[in-house]
Amino acid sequence: MNWNKWMRQTHRWLSVAFTAAVIINIVAIVLGKYTRSIGLLAVFPLILQLFTGLYLFVLPYAAKWRTARRTA
Ligand code: HEM
Repeated sequence: MNWNKWMRQTHRWLSVAFTAAVIINIVAIVLGKYTRSIGLLAVFPLILQLFTGLYLFVLPYAAKWRTARRTA
């Protein structure tokens, strides 16, 4: 599996973890059992998503820069 594909798969699976953490957060708030570590449960996958997401965002531009340099 190449690097780009690996990043996309990681981003996709992190979105599942993040969604589960958000649901856990909501349940904890409703039950009045919210703690800071439950909050961090959602923040952690979100930070990783930010980096993998930014990588995915730059990919098409990076491909364009590469082909532009090759044809110049
Ligand atoms: C934190 C900042 C985030 C950034 C900067 C970001 C950025 C991106 C980018 C650039 C793509 C690729 C779009 C394309 O196909 O060209 C993408 C795909 C995707 N993002 Fe995010 N994202 C973020 C957070 C999230 C969150 C919070 C979720 C859901 C809980 C999410 C779920 C997804 C999914 C499911 C895809 C499609 C992945 C695939 O193609 O298999 N992302 N994101």
